[in-house]
Amino acid sequence: VTLAADKAAARARLKDLAAQAARCDRCPVASCATQTVFGRGHPRAEVMLVGEQPGDHEDRAGRPFVGPAGQLLQQAIAALGWPREALYVTNAVKHFHHTLRGSRRIHKTPEQAALAACLDWLEAEVDAVDPPLIVALGQTAARALLGAADADGAVPRAGGLHRRADGRAVLVAWHPSALLRAGVGQGGAPVEDHPRWAAWLAQLAP
Ligand code: URA
Repeated sequence: VTLAADKAAARARLKDLAAQAARCDRCPVASCATQTVFGRGHPRAEVMLVGEQPGDHEDRAGRPFVGPAGQLLQQAIAALGWPREALYVTNAVKHFHHTLRGSRRIHKTPEQAALAACLDWLEAEVDAVDPPLIVALGQTAARALLGAADADGAVPRAGGLHRRADGRAVLVAWHPSALLRAGVGQGGAPVEDHPRWAAWLAQLAP
């Protein structure tokens, strides 16, 4: 197979998966999220970035990482000089889990059942894209990709480079929302002013 044919086949596979996932009703949240938010990016990406679940913005837009956390992630990608078009970005869970507070939709950590129900989609994406490196953003993604311990028995931790049973490398880094909560880039201050910024970049590209 030529590289172009291989890429076209992976793209077709992902398109098919996204269409199937759009109709998925394996978890109860499917009925209260606006839509399934499937992964996006290069069908044969060198690096696959995996977040937790779509947020309010992503749920409306139908694309991963388009809200504030996504903007911070975009800044990190730019700072690292990664070509955005060579990445594939997705989430461990494809629906926005939330509770209502008045008219506001507040992020809710997905339950174990939803994580388990969604895992097939993530593994199908990993299989289709076949990335040499996966970056798990936060503990939810790390648990989805590695379980409670990696193939060498190590517990996934931020800053750790882990190995899956299938041999793939998984780098675990903080979730961008954790940096937002820690005040990175808040109050008009440049992101570089916050000590966690450099630490995060070092986790993403050790
Ligand atoms: N947080 C995530 O984990 N994923 C998104 O797509 C957006 C915010």
